[in-house]
Amino acid sequence: MSRSPARSRFLDLEPALESFAQSVIAGLSRPRKSLDSAFFYDGAGSRLFERITALPDYYPTRTEIGILDRAGAEIATVLGPGVQLVELGSGSSVKVRLLLDRLADPAGYVGIDISREHLRQACAALAADHPGLDVLALCADYMQEVPVPPPADGLPRRRIGFFPGSTIGNLEPEAAAAFLARWRRTLLEGGREPGGMLVGVDLKKDPALLLAAYNDPTGVTAAFNRNILARINRELGGTFDPHAFAHRAIYCAERGRIEMHLVSGRDQIAMAAGRRFAFAAGESIHTENSCKYTVPEFQALALRAGYRPERVWTDADRLFSVHWLSLR
Ligand code: AVI
Repeated sequence: MSRSPARSRFLDLEPALESFAQSVIAGLSRPRKSLDSAFFYDGAGSRLFERITALPDYYPTRTEIGILDRAGAEIATVLGPGVQLVELGSGSSVKVRLLLDRLADPAGYVGIDISREHLRQACAALAADHPGLDVLALCADYMQEVPVPPPADGLPRRRIGFFPGSTIGNLEPEAAAAFLARWRRTLLEGGREPGGMLVGVDLKKDPALLLAAYNDPTGVTAAFNRNILARINRELGGTFDPHAFAHRAIYCAERGRIEMHLVSGRDQIAMAAGRRFAFAAGESIHTENSCKYTVPEFQALALRAGYRPERVWTDADRLFSVHWLSLR
């Protein structure tokens, strides 16, 4: 049988710039200043994050890839044939290849990401490597409800969400449950049978390992953290001196999370989105939470969100977990 050529479509639902400006103004106006970590990922931020994933101390990426590689065939059997795979935050699409290559007769792939050019390139490369696969690059904020189109050939057997990387950990637990609940309907109704979600979740572990992963000696994580200030300068007429803020990552055991902060090195004033913000020496901008779970903690969260935690795969050192949450 001759194979059909690569089929790749692009749909642009990128949110307006106002949402960045509004979010920055709201976050920097709080008594405890904060910025939304979702805005780390412009072109420069995505490139810095790619470099983080290759750092020796940043274990999540290589560990999750190892799990997907070892368990990929078993995961594909659990998901079954004819699925439309919807990847939330598709980045460079390295991980999804480990699944797509093993899935029986996949009905399509949708990569959703806010970083438009990165997304287009990754989906084009994926389509070229999977001739005949219906590939859709959907530029959108997957934290909101996204209208995901069915594959060109019609409703798939099941629609499966794929949310790797422990990005779910960047939401606080209640927000993570609300996020899973928001995707429920799209995954239930997007196929002829109820689908589900495959989620990568970083596990609780020795805090020393966690701290090393977020305080790399080469300063890539610090550059990633400071890039959000540089992005405000680029896109919102900001006047930040990013190097006047120190990168700080701490582990809060009580909340089971790494917190990233940018700490002002001196009293200073910066403009952003037409507003003036004052920072005292030592004052922090809270830029990210990275929540860690035990397997039972995450399964309880998924149950609250209306999913059935059916399977979990981990590495031998129990650093990371991949959960299959079904809607059956
Ligand atoms: C994308 N996310 C899961 C990363 C994390 O580990 O929370 C972002 C990151 N922040 C600092 N290093 C990596």
